[in-house]
This record gives sequence, C-alpha cells and structure tokens, in this order.
Amino acid sequence: MKRKLLVTGSNGLIGSEVCLYFAARGFTVHGLDNNQRAVFFGPAGNTRWNQRRLEQLVRHFQHHEVDVRDREGIQQVLRQVKPDVIVHTAAQPSHDLAATIPFDDFDTNATGTLNLLEAARRHCPESPFIHMSTNKVYGDAPNSIALKELETRWEYADEAFLNGIPETFTIDQSKHSLFGASKAASDILVQEYGRYFSMSSCCLRGGCLTGPNHAGVELHGFLSYLVKCNIEGKEYRVYGYKGKQVRDNIHSEDVAAFIYHFYLNPRCGEVYNLGGGKDNSCSILEAFALTEAVSGRRQQYTYVDQHRVGDHICYYSDLRKMTSHYPNWSITKDLTQITKEIVESWQTRLAS
Ligand SMILES: NC(=O)c1ccc[n+]([C@@H]2O[C@H](COP(=O)([O-])OP(=O)(O)OC[C@H]3O[C@@H](n4cnc5c(N)ncnc54)[C@H](O)[C@@H]3O)[C@@H](O)[C@H]2O)c1
Repeated sequence: MKRKLLVTGSNGLIGSEVCLYFAARGFTVHGLDNNQRAVFFGPAGNTRWNQRRLEQLVRHFQHHEVDVRDREGIQQVLRQVKPDVIVHTAAQPSHDLAATIPFDDFDTNATGTLNLLEAARRHCPESPFIHMSTNKVYGDAPNSIALKELETRWEYADEAFLNGIPETFTIDQSKHSLFGASKAASDILVQEYGRYFSMSSCCLRGGCLTGPNHAGVELHGFLSYLVKCNIEGKEYRVYGYKGKQVRDNIHSEDVAAFIYHFYLNPRCGEVYNLGGGKDNSCSILEAFALTEAVSGRRQQYTYVDQHRVGDHICYYSDLRKMTSHYPNWSITKDLTQITKEIVESWQTRLAS
C-alpha cells in the first residue's frame, strides 16, 4: 500500500515543494490549504496557481480546503487520512504583519499547530510530525553578538559564531515580534509532544527559505520579492542597517530533502536551524549585485533610515547539528543557482 503524506500549507512555497518531493518517492499526497496567504497579503499572495500546479503534476494528490484553526475540521482530516507523515508548513509567516492581526496570527501559528498535534496524537501517533519553525524564535537576541562592519555586509566579530547560530542559542528574554512569539509557542508545543508523549517530531527553525515557487511580497519572502522588483523595474525599499543586514538562504528543494531524511530516521522533540548557512548568506546589497548579474537589469531601490522592529542585523544558521545527525543531507543549491531559478520563474510568471 502507498504511504500517505499530509502537508498543511500545501499551496505555499515549502508545502508545495514537499508535496512534489514525497510524490516522486511514491507517496500519496494530501494537501491542506485554504489560500489564507491571499487574505493575509491580498491578491499578490494568492497561491491557487500553485495548487493547480500540484493537481497537474501529482497523480495521487488530494486537496483539503480546511483552515488549521478549525479544530473539528482538522480532527476529521486526520481521522480519515491517518497519514504516515505530517509536514506542517501552514502559517501566518510575516514578522511585520503580525502586529496588525494579533489574533489571526496566534490562532493560526500557535493554536493551529496545537490542533494538528492533538489530532495526530489521537489518530496517528506513530507518524513523524515535522514543523516549520523560524529563526525569529530567537527574537532579536542575535543582535547582541559583537559584529564587524565590512564593505557590503555585517559579520560576526565573535569567534564563537563563526559557523553561525546554533540551536543552543537562547530563545528567551528578547524582542520577538508577535509573529516570533506565536511561532515560539508552536515550537515549544512540537518539542513537548515529542518529549512528553514520545511522538517523533521536530522543529525546523528556518532562515530565509526561498525558491522559484514563492509568491514573494514586501512583507514576506525577501529574495523572491527583491528579484520581482528587479524584473519589474520597481523600487525595493531597504529598511535600515545600511542594507548590510545578512540573511542565509536555502532552496525549498533542500528543505524538502531534509524533511525526507528526518522522516526516514525520525527523532523525538528535536530542533534544527535550517538555513543556507554561511556559504549561502548575503546582505541586501549583495543580493542586489547577485540579481543584477543574473537578470542584467539594474536594481532600483530607496533607503528608509529605520530598521524593522526586532529585525536581525546578521543571521546565518550553524548547520553542523543537521549534518551530524543526517550526514547524507547537504545543501545542493548555491546562491547563484537559487537566484537564477527565481529570476527565470518571475520572468515566466510576469509574462503570462
Ligand atoms: N519563507 C521563509 O523565508 C520562512 C522562513 C522561516 C520560517 N518559515 C516558515 O516556513 C513555513 C512555510 O513558509 P512558506 O514560505 O512556505 O509560507 P507560504 O506563505 O508560502 O505558505 C504557507 C501556506 O499556508 C497557508 N495557510 C496560512 N494560514 C492557513 C490556515 N489558517 N489554514 C490553512 N492554510 C493556511 C497559506 O495559504 C499558504 O499557502 C511557515 O511556517 C513559515 O513561518 C518560512
């Protein structure tokens, strides 16, 4: 019998990639999404196109139009499907938007995760539960690390962080944004279902997750949105830190591959910092140069002399725990490759 995958947020960047990755490995795929991204971000956040793509590409794809906040609806899906693995990617994903919709943010990110965990415990407790968390659970504490200013970027001056931020970094006593707080709540819940109920579970604390299928908007999806501005000749707004703020970028396919490795060898209540690491890190200024080199178009931008609340100055993930637990996994797409794919995708999407 075919193994069954349930992906929440299946219309989104990571969800859709996970659907394709597991489908290629023989799974029946159940996607759950209510296109809430279009409610959060307006028409530019619409993800139906991605749902249609999955329906075309995946033979055994079944879509469930359910809101993760709907406790009974989630119970019903889990009772009916009894998936062999659950990948939870549905979320209100924006740091900045959360303050304007605090209840929607918390109900989606924290309560939605609890709804799923409890439904999984009742109907398929043996199935690994993989949760997309975020590096915003560390709040702005990474900003307390000593930094040095280089020509195009900020860099850690403290040798302890030469490989990036490890999972042992504090998540406590710093400014998170409401988004970081609701995601921290879900992160702790997922760990707890692992430790308390011995369910296989992990939290993947994402850096910048990206790829050609992101519906990047100003408030979420940094590289995708930056490239979109470049292709459209639209001004990108840089908020503070001289445009030298550093992010690590990981292609959604490398994210899906890690999730698959975890499914094959699951652990209980684990936490991993899942980003591109130091090699795939860049500042906004460096991302402009990269994109210009690929697209051949000059990046238009304006500088706003005010950084976003709680925004990281320099953040890249220490990947050593991931690669020590899963030595067969590694980053396969570097920044240039990632940028090329995003440029091509926007060129096609904007032309159609
Ligand atoms: N993209 C990033 O840079 C990044 C970075 C760190 C962490 N993450 C985390 O990874 C996960 C996936 O991110 P993404 O970039 O794929 O996001 P995305 O917005 O592209 O996809 C999320 C999907 O979830 C759906 N959704 C939202 N609320 C829902 C609800 N209440 N019920 C059902 N479906 C709902 C949306 O419609 C969307 O299709 C999120 O948990 C996010 O916080 C993302």
